[in-house]
Amino acid sequence: MNQRLLRRSLRFASFAPRNDNDYMIILGIETSCDETAAAVVRGNSEKVEVLSNVVASQIEIHQKYGGVVPEVAAREHVLNILPVVNEALEKAGIKIPLTPFDKGGKKIDAIAVTIGPGLVTSLLVGVETAKTLAYAWKKPVVAVNHIEGHIYANFIRNDKCQMTNVKNNIKFPALILTVSGGHTMLVLMTGHGEYKVLGETRDDAAGEAFDKAAQLLNIGYPGGPAIAAYAAKLKVKSKKLKVSLPRPMLNSSDFDFSFSGLKTALLYAIQKDKQWKKKIPGYAAEFQAAAVEVLVHKTIKAALTYKAKNIMLSGGVAANTELRGQLEAAVKNKLSGAKLSIPEFKYCTDNAAMIAAAGYFMAKRKKFTPWQKLKADANLELTN
Ligand code: KG4
Ligand code: ZN
Repeated sequence: MNQRLLRRSLRFASFAPRNDNDYMIILGIETSCDETAAAVVRGNSEKVEVLSNVVASQIEIHQKYGGVVPEVAAREHVLNILPVVNEALEKAGIKIPLTPFDKGGKKIDAIAVTIGPGLVTSLLVGVETAKTLAYAWKKPVVAVNHIEGHIYANFIRNDKCQMTNVKNNIKFPALILTVSGGHTMLVLMTGHGEYKVLGETRDDAAGEAFDKAAQLLNIGYPGGPAIAAYAAKLKVKSKKLKVSLPRPMLNSSDFDFSFSGLKTALLYAIQKDKQWKKKIPGYAAEFQAAAVEVLVHKTIKAALTYKAKNIMLSGGVAANTELRGQLEAAVKNKLSGAKLSIPEFKYCTDNAAMIAAAGYFMAKRKKFTPWQKLKADANLELTN
């Protein structure tokens, strides 16, 4: 090889080992509910680094209805998706328009997209966008389960977060408490892409329960952050505000949950209490305490039963400070040797970095789907 060619090939080789499956740049797309999101991550070995993470939230639009209106969400996704993808690529330093014929520089190796579970009209926007980009750019696609995405938020490099004392070196078996607006599950993860659902909610999801409780107390949407904010106010108020709510299924022999009874108990309590409007912080704190106690108790029980080496928290409700704190204390006190991992706040609620992270580990295992076969599935289950 002549010297000029050798120098040139070395320059490119040092930029990116293109044939190495352990080093990949993934574009993630997420539109399963009311956030239009795109992100670019670089995976290397067991770690994922976020190069860009863009989320266009529709919260303000849905707030006046007290919940997500599917048709409105889908229409907003259509308006937002291309600007959001463009911004994610630009922020990651990827030149656009991308062509199928990359000429050096940072490249996208694969596109990861959420195919379900979620609102089908919302999912379709992300799925069709991923199909189109895959065809135009000649890139492979990985079809990601939204819940798996939440789990993989724990694999995003997070050196700053105090909670993530494992610095992302996750050991298996890992036990995941995954809690969001749409699902509540305890999952045993025995390896990448290997899951066993140990228990789930029999009725409302944890986030859904927070949202409904906030609606009953008339403190706004989304309910999780509103309940948490009111509960925090209790600390500086009189203890007389204290009220008592049940801990549903706390001592049941399985790993299931139930939250609709807790919400109904709150409804009956405020119906009986003429002064309830003056006690909102007390009701919010008690509701949060009841939900957190059950979630933490069952997580520890499952971790002990299955000898989990790593405990992970994921999903929108993982942003709850009380839950993060209580779980951290319980892991420290009751699970000797097990490590806890909690994603940074911005990777708890819906985002595309987590989808790209899950996509990276799938791409490593060559779990690609031909774009022609990519399909949204509103009821997609978490399977191996
Ligand atoms: O994961 P996510 O963004 O969307 C779904 O996949 O559902 O989760 C949204 C849910 C909402 O129900 C919201 O109320 C809840 O997460 N949430 C919280 C907090 N932040 C968001 N719940 C409790 N405390 C919070 N700080
Ligand atoms: Zn979610």
